[in-house]
Amino acid sequence: MGTPHINAKKHNISNLVILSGDPIRVKYIAETFLKNAIQINNIRNMFGYTGKYKNILVSVMSHGMGIPSAAIYVTELIKFYDIKKMIRVGTCGTIQKNIFLKDIIIALGASTDSNFNRIRFKNYDFAAIADFHLIYKAFNIAGNRKINIHIGNFFTTDIFYTDDKEIVNILKKYNILAIDMETAGIYNIAAEYRIPVMSICSVSDHILLKNQLSTKERECSFNDMIEIALETIIS
Ligand code: HPA
Repeated sequence: MGTPHINAKKHNISNLVILSGDPIRVKYIAETFLKNAIQINNIRNMFGYTGKYKNILVSVMSHGMGIPSAAIYVTELIKFYDIKKMIRVGTCGTIQKNIFLKDIIIALGASTDSNFNRIRFKNYDFAAIADFHLIYKAFNIAGNRKINIHIGNFFTTDIFYTDDKEIVNILKKYNILAIDMETAGIYNIAAEYRIPVMSICSVSDHILLKNQLSTKERECSFNDMIEIALETIIS
C-alpha cells in the first residue's frame, strides 16, 4: 500500500497539500490548525497529517531538506496520490537589508545552483515560477489581514554552509530576497504535472546581519504564514 516513502492509504491524503521540510513543524501545523487530524505517514518519521481546515480536508506533509528529498515526496504525492494543489511553507535565509527575521516572503520564481532542473530540462535554464492565481490570492489574503509580505525571486541552493562571499554579493546584486533549499525543484516538478504551486517562507537566518531563530522558533513561530497558506489553498 502507498509508495516507497509514504504509507498513507490513497483516500487519506487530500488533493490540497501543505508541504513543509520539518516533520516537527508539520505536526505543529496539524495540531494547531487542523480539526480531527489523523497521522497519515510515519515512514522515516517524515510525518504527514490530514484534517479539516474550515471544514475542508487538507493534508500537511513533510518533505525533508534539499531538492532531492523534496522531489521524492512531491513526485509521489502527484503521481500516486493525485494531489491537485500544493503550497510549501518553509524557512529561508535572506541577504537583504530591508528584510528581517520572521518576515514572510513568497517565491514568485526561484533561481538555483542545483543541477536538478537542468538535468530534467536538457541543460537549458528553466524559469521556475509559482502559480499566478495562488500568488494573487495569497497577496490579497495577507493584505486583508494587514500582514506585510515580500514577493520576489528566491535562490534555491544545495549548500547550506558556505564560505563563498562572492555568491552573497551576487544574490544581493540581483535582488534575490530569500535563500532556501527546495523551491526551484518543487516548481519544476509542478510545471511538468500542471500542479498549481507556491512557496511561502519565513526568514529564519539573516546572513548579512548574522542572526538566526532558535530551533524552537523555527519549529513553530510562523502562524501568520501558515494561515496565509491554508486560506490560500482552500480558496
Ligand atoms: N540557506 C538556505 N536555506 C535555508 C536557510 C539558509 O540560510 N535558512 C533556512 N533555509
